[in-house]
Amino acid sequence: MNCNYPQTNDLGASTEDELAEFSPPKLLHETKNKIFQFVDKHYTNNKRIVVVTSGGTAVPLENKTVRFIDNFSTGTRGSAAAEYPLLYIIRSLISYLACTRYFLQAGYAVIFLHRVKTLIPFRRHLDKNNSKGLSLLDIFQLNPSSGSVSITVDQSQIPQLAQVLKDYQSVQRRQMLLCVEFVTLCDYLHYLRAAAEAIQPLGRAAMIFLAAAVSDFYVPGYALPEHKIQSAHGPPVIHLRQVPKMLGCLAQEWAKKAFVVSFKLETDHSLLVRKAREALDKYKHQVVIANLLENRRTKLEVITSQDHCTLTLMKEELEGGKELEEKLIADLVVRHNQFANSDT
Ligand code: PMT
Repeated sequence: MNCNYPQTNDLGASTEDELAEFSPPKLLHETKNKIFQFVDKHYTNNKRIVVVTSGGTAVPLENKTVRFIDNFSTGTRGSAAAEYPLLYIIRSLISYLACTRYFLQAGYAVIFLHRVKTLIPFRRHLDKNNSKGLSLLDIFQLNPSSGSVSITVDQSQIPQLAQVLKDYQSVQRRQMLLCVEFVTLCDYLHYLRAAAEAIQPLGRAAMIFLAAAVSDFYVPGYALPEHKIQSAHGPPVIHLRQVPKMLGCLAQEWAKKAFVVSFKLETDHSLLVRKAREALDKYKHQVVIANLLENRRTKLEVITSQDHCTLTLMKEELEGGKELEEKLIADLVVRHNQFANSDT
C-alpha cells in the first residue's frame, strides 16, 4: 500500500497539517461559530472554561458506513465530570452566600464534546444505561382511559430528581453548558481543535479534560470502499493506519497555555503508571489520570510531574450514590487554581 502520510514528530504531532488526512465534518463551520460565541460570552464575563471530551470515537470501514470500529466508553466519566465544575458554583452559592463573588469566579462554563447517544450531564440521571439512573419510562405512566400521561415518581427518588432539575435549569438559564456531538474520529479531532483554539484567549484560565476514548488506528479515506463490504468476497483484509497522538498538538499548539488533563486507560495494571508517566514526559502537559478498565469507577491515579496520588471510592460511598468524579474534580480545581495563579 502506497501511503503519503504525514510523518510524526517526537511529540506525536504531525509535521505537516496534523488534520489534513482527516476530512472535516459537514457542520464544522456552524459548530465553530457556536463554540466561539459561547467562549466570547463567558470570556467577557471572566468565567473559567473547561472543554470536557466524553464517549468513544468510531472509525468507519466503509464510506457509506454500515460497519465501523469503536472505542469503548459509556460517557459516564465525562458526563459526571462535566457536572461538578458547573455545580461547584451553585452549591457554593447555597453554602457561602456571603462570599458569592469569589465562588462565582470559580464556576466553570463547560464545552461538552461527546459521542452521540452516550451519557450527557444532568440527563444522565434519567438514563437506564446509568446504573443509578431513573428510567424515563418508569417515571411516565399512560392512563389508558383518558389517554393522558402522568408522571409518577417513587417517593424515595423525589429529592434526587428535584435536585437534578434545579441544577439543570440553573445551568440552562445561565447558558453555562454547550454540548457538541461527534460520531467519528474525524468529527472528534476537528471539533477538539476548534474548541482548543477558541479557548486560547483565556490562557491559563482554560482547562481541557480528555476523558473520551480515542481511536489509535483508522482506515484512511483513499482506502475506504464506497459501499458495504460484501461477505460473498470472503473475510476482508483491512490495513489500519496509526492515528497521530493529538495530545502533542493540543498541548503544544492548539491550546498551549491551557491546563490539560489527559487519561491513560489500560487493562494490564503492570503497565498503567509507567505509561501514564511516559505520556506526561512526552507531551509535557499538566496531569495524567490513569485508570484500569475493570475498576475505573472506584480508583484513579492522579499523576503530575511533581506528585502522584490515588483517589478511591469506598464501597459505602459507592452504595450511597457518591461518584469518584466529585473527588477528582475537587482535586483538579485546586491544581488548576495553583496553575492559573503561577507564571511558570
Ligand atoms: O466513559 P466511561 O465508560 O466512564 O469510561 C471512562 C474511560 C475509561 C473511557 C476514561 O476514564 C478514559 O480512560 N479515557 C481515555 C481513554 C483513552 O483513549 O486512553 P488511551 O490510553 O488510548 O489514550 C491516552 C490519551 O491519548 C487520551 O487522553 C486520548 O485523548 C489521547 N489520544 C488517544 C489517541 C490518539 N490518537 N490521540 C490522542 O491524543
